[in-house]
Amino acid sequence: MRRHILVPLLVAPSFGLRTFEPPPPPVTTRNNITEHWFTVRLNHFMAHNNETFQMRFYYNNEFVNASHIPEIVVFVGGEWAIYPGWVGGGLAHELASILHAGLFYTEHRYYGLTRPTANTTVSELRYLNVDQALADLAQFIEYVKSEQFENGIYRNSKVVLVGCSYAGSMATWMRLAYPHLVDAVFSDSGPLHAQEDFPEYLEVITEALRTQGSEECLSSVSEAVQLMVELLETEDGAATISSLFNTCSPIDTSSEWDIPTFFWYGITETFAALVQYATPGNIPAACAVLTNSNISDPVQRLANWITAQSWTQPCIESRYSEVVTAHTNTDYDSPNSVMRLWTYQTCVEYGWYQTTTSSRQPFLSTVPLEYFHQMCKDFYSIDFDEVRLRQGIVRTNNLFAGLTHLPDYSVSVAGGHDPWSPMGPNVTHATALASVYVVPGVSHCRAITATGNSDTEELERVKQAVLSDLHLYITGIPLTKAANVAVPPLVLIVAVTFAMI
Ligand SMILES: *[C@@H]1O[C@H](CO)[C@@H](O)[C@H](O)[C@H]1NC(C)=O
Ligand SMILES: *[C@@H]1O[C@H](CO)[C@@H](O)[C@H](O)[C@H]1NC(C)=O
Ligand SMILES: *[C@@H]1O[C@H](CO)[C@@H](O)[C@H](O)[C@H]1NC(C)=O
Ligand SMILES: *[C@@H]1O[C@H](CO)[C@@H](O)[C@H](O)[C@H]1NC(C)=O
Ligand SMILES: *[C@@H]1O[C@H](CO)[C@@H](O)[C@H](O)[C@H]1NC(C)=O
Ligand SMILES: *[C@@H]1O[C@H](CO)[C@@H](O)[C@H](O)[C@H]1NC(C)=O
Repeated sequence: MRRHILVPLLVAPSFGLRTFEPPPPPVTTRNNITEHWFTVRLNHFMAHNNETFQMRFYYNNEFVNASHIPEIVVFVGGEWAIYPGWVGGGLAHELASILHAGLFYTEHRYYGLTRPTANTTVSELRYLNVDQALADLAQFIEYVKSEQFENGIYRNSKVVLVGCSYAGSMATWMRLAYPHLVDAVFSDSGPLHAQEDFPEYLEVITEALRTQGSEECLSSVSEAVQLMVELLETEDGAATISSLFNTCSPIDTSSEWDIPTFFWYGITETFAALVQYATPGNIPAACAVLTNSNISDPVQRLANWITAQSWTQPCIESRYSEVVTAHTNTDYDSPNSVMRLWTYQTCVEYGWYQTTTSSRQPFLSTVPLEYFHQMCKDFYSIDFDEVRLRQGIVRTNNLFAGLTHLPDYSVSVAGGHDPWSPMGPNVTHATALASVYVVPGVSHCRAITATGNSDTEELERVKQAVLSDLHLYITGIPLTKAANVAVPPLVLIVAVTFAMI
């Protein structure tokens, strides 16, 4: 056990197929947080394979009190490096306080410093899938409840898993796969239904721009994209676009995938980052630039906004060959390592390609599904084709039921303006022991932050309902005012018309 110095480290947004790297909450405690390593089986599904690797986790025991049986709260890590912030603040930290629980934060195999293999070559990625990652969590829970950890203080504890985004999906799937180890789960913004083409993603972005920005904002983007597509038909036009948008090199209109690369990395991903991570005021501020009446050219207005975003710095990459080079680096420490790993998971398990195949979005047909098929082949090998992708998606939905069955003792939250929400549960999936709350207007993973600091009043009420539901599931009694949290109606379902344009 080694003491970890608390540095709230913000993971830089990585480009491409983004899900979420949760930013650290304000840390409310600086004591009691320690970093640990635990020995896990490399392959849980081959009985004779006894290889292992070291899995990292953080542990905070500040709420453990000799006069209570401590419960276990695990904040589940997804496709990012863990850092101590989420065992020092946020909703899981509050839950641990209420339940007198030990609080843990686990690192997903292959991400962060939890590295089961020497590198990320295709052959070494054979143990990267969610079934193995869930089995890691199962082994982890058994370990924490064993005599080997803290002299067995958790041997009779109940276990709550909390996760957001893909880690939220994992929490829900843990309750399905290991109900004897997991007593209750909370998933914020977790997609549950694997799907190859995911045009709904940009549809939600469109809806958020329209309702939080304006119709004018949307039509300005639409006009700009139309003009850009026309300009990109000529060399001179392409040179104009390259210079306005500060691409890393001139856009090569003769290359099959360079224009989609420019639109994906430069345009749709920039809007994805705006809406997926939106906090109150972000979208109106973007729309003010996009509709600035002092600038008559919509392309210039779009370029002004795009080039002012930190993730388009120092320049926008439009060369598909460079994207391939960056994502075929098999060193864990390479800058695109996380995206190599996560994209691999999409190519074999999920799809979720955020294409422009819907007509209800302003980006025309600039980012086709074939672009992602090409990525799977070029990043990993020609064997990672559409057949493998589709079989993987069928397998994922078969293993975990997609949206056809929510496990009991689960709580799910969806943000009404979270572009991932169409792949997750909504109020129609709720049952007596599986609550689902849809919070109008909020973005991705906003319900895992602390109470008392919410984007909207509804979000605040939903966070309190989440705490209340989990308390009821674990203790059998509703949360009382003694826990310093107001008692919300237990089965409050925030209904919302999920207006998709
Ligand atoms: C793993 O199995 C091999 C034989 O298959 C054995 O030689 C080795 O000691 C085992 N390692 C561990 C850590 O149990
Ligand atoms: C952790 O918290 C407990 C109180 O819950 C306290 O007694 C202890 O000194 C703290 N520090 C460590 C390193 O456990
Ligand atoms: C432990 O729990 C008891 C009873 O709930 C409480 O009075 C006491 O203050 C708690 N101690 C700590 C260190 O939290
Ligand atoms: C990757 O690791 C494997 C297993 O250690 C090794 O055999 C292979 O040479 C490595 N490949 C690269 C490109 O580093
Ligand atoms: C437009 O230009 C005028 C005059 O320079 C300035 O006062 C105003 O703030 C500008 N509006 C925007 C939205 O930038
Ligand atoms: C709920 O999700 C289902 C997909 O499982 C979808 O068909 C339906 O339209 C959604 N309902 C609402 C109210 O969003």
